[in-house]
Amino acid sequence: MTAALDVQGLTTRFATRGDPVTAVNDVSFSVQKGRILGLVGESGSGKSVTGFSVMGLIDAPGEISAGKVLVDGNDLRALSDEHMRKMRGNKVAMVFQDPMMTLNPVLRVGDQMAMAVRVHRKMSKTAALEESRAALEAVGIPSPEERLQAYPHQLSGGMRQRVAIAMALLHSPSVIIADEATTALDVSIQGQILAEVRDLADTTGAAIVWITHDLAVVSSLADDICVMYAGKIVERGTAQQVIDHPRHPYTKGLLDSIPALHEPGKHLPQIPGSTPQLSRLPQGCPFRPRCPRASDICKTVPPADTVDGQTVLCHHPLERT
Ligand SMILES: Nc1ncnc2c1ncn2[C@@H]1O[C@H](COP(=O)(O)OP(=O)(O)O)[C@@H](O)[C@H]1O
Ligand SMILES: [Mg+2]
Repeated sequence: MTAALDVQGLTTRFATRGDPVTAVNDVSFSVQKGRILGLVGESGSGKSVTGFSVMGLIDAPGEISAGKVLVDGNDLRALSDEHMRKMRGNKVAMVFQDPMMTLNPVLRVGDQMAMAVRVHRKMSKTAALEESRAALEAVGIPSPEERLQAYPHQLSGGMRQRVAIAMALLHSPSVIIADEATTALDVSIQGQILAEVRDLADTTGAAIVWITHDLAVVSSLADDICVMYAGKIVERGTAQQVIDHPRHPYTKGLLDSIPALHEPGKHLPQIPGSTPQLSRLPQGCPFRPRCPRASDICKTVPPADTVDGQTVLCHHPLERT
């Protein structure tokens, strides 16, 4: 089956005053229709640049220097700028941390949603408003007719983010990329929205890439998980594999620092140190200086090690327990 999204060898660099930095380094993953891929890693690991690269939203001094982004089998990088603009917001949509990146503060919700519908499809405003209402309903917004009349500032943060997700749904996209979409919301609202997103993947068949720094979020939401570190995917597998049997010491460190997954009352371990600057990456494995399992061999590039479809880039992966 053709994946809804198939990213192959994606590499994105930024020209800086010194040497160019590689923010996304030979990244590959694919997402089938109706599946949710969680893309996790600490701040600065290259998650957003991956999302923007897939969307074709990288501007100078950034550049996608290699790789393919296939949506329903079509390579987005081979498209003209105009064709790409059509695909964006149509076949591939993005949801940002701040819903006001998507919403226009001076227009009523219904007016801007109907406009968004009619940019890509010829239809009456009444029909477009009906589609907008249905999209609001699909993301669990109560009294959607009334919300169509509201201005964004009259809605709560959680409602605004739901509207932004509804806008992403308007063109029945094949792929939705959500970048820290619930990070700014409180935990209970976040939980509700995650449950709705799970339903949306099932009912609409959209392939969803859920980007977050919070492994706890994707542990309940995602089908598959990719863990990013310094621009590389260092571990990938099903959510169950990665959460229950992490094999990369970095993934293990992230999991050990989640309070809910940890024994209450015990000291919560944190990964020592911080993410490396891309311009000064250590030789070999970029996680080496922070890694409890590091040895001399880690000064060489770590090999890929796969067990049951779960892959890690590591010289000393944890045994499957
Ligand atoms: N506009 C830019 N110019 C130069 N470097 C950038 C730019 N955007 C991102 N980067 C580099 O890419 C790295 C990864 O950024 P990002 O994808 O935003 O991380 P994440 O979303 O995982 O927190 C940054 O730490 C920075 O080194
Ligand atoms: Mg980010």
